[in-house]
Amino acid sequence: MMAGRRSGGTLHTPMTDDASTERISPTAYATGHMWYRLGMSHPVLSTAQGKRLDAAFGLVTGALKRIGGASFDALMIARHKGIDARLARAIDEGRVSQVIEVAAGLSPRGINFARRYGDRILYLETDLPAMAATKRRLLAQAGLLNEHHRVVELDALADRGPHSLAQIAKTLDPKLGTAIISEGLMSYLDSDTAQDVWRRFARTLKKFPHGLYLADSYTSRDNRGSGAKLFGAVLGRFVKGRIHVHFGSAAEAIQTLRGAGFRSVAMLEPRELPETREIAQVKGAGRVRILEALT
Ligand SMILES: C[S@@+](CC[C@H](N)C(=O)[O-])C[C@H]1O[C@@H](n2cnc3c(N)ncnc32)[C@H](O)[C@@H]1O
Repeated sequence: MMAGRRSGGTLHTPMTDDASTERISPTAYATGHMWYRLGMSHPVLSTAQGKRLDAAFGLVTGALKRIGGASFDALMIARHKGIDARLARAIDEGRVSQVIEVAAGLSPRGINFARRYGDRILYLETDLPAMAATKRRLLAQAGLLNEHHRVVELDALADRGPHSLAQIAKTLDPKLGTAIISEGLMSYLDSDTAQDVWRRFARTLKKFPHGLYLADSYTSRDNRGSGAKLFGAVLGRFVKGRIHVHFGSAAEAIQTLRGAGFRSVAMLEPRELPETREIAQVKGAGRVRILEALT
């Protein structure tokens, strides 16, 4: 671990771009509405702010699509459905019955999995305190929370303290297989910070009989065009930080995640999975991979 820095009683690893990742949070409103617009979510997660932001991003991604032909919606559908498919498979096969979704934002996955699996799983949606409070309020308003589906404060960068992964993991049953999901978070973190987060995830998952980590992941080999770079630059400007593509290739990703403590790692392409095979035919979907790592 790198030398830490204290903020609000929590030990944080330093980031080179910005001291706090709270600046990223508004993007969760945009994707919150986007999942709804794409027919994958519940109306309660579509906010006025999200609608405005999604429309603004749509102007940029629409222009890029007209120039290069790649669809940002296709990438988002592929990543979300891909993660869903691998998580459902692990639950159906009996390997996982506890889920910690890190940086859940206004994603519908918690609602969808709680609906599908009921009391057969425990689903913890987590995010930084302000976003967690918003999610909890919206879900409670719609009567969607219960003891198997909860919202908890978690800072992915915290090594210890009440909002750390270590602390949240202690509340789970150590005898049950557990998954950690992160969607749309890692690209906002610089390389050193991301490696610390992956090591923290692996360390935590090793405490359970089965550990599964799922995330969207990107390689520069899959994102060569100027369109991808331009979109990254626009998004970076919006969140006042850089967007990071952590890996040159899938092989490099596998090596890095193994180095972080995972036993087996795959970088799945949307065209490889039955659930995303159709969307994979749309240009743009091939820019994302589903990172699946086991402990
Ligand atoms: C792009 S949004 C993704 C939200 C959701 N996963 C989705 O795909 O719709 C990024 C999320 O990361 C959260 N976030 C930022 N920094 C974080 C941190 N240090 N720990 C946990 N979550 C964080 C933000 O609050 C926001 O909800």
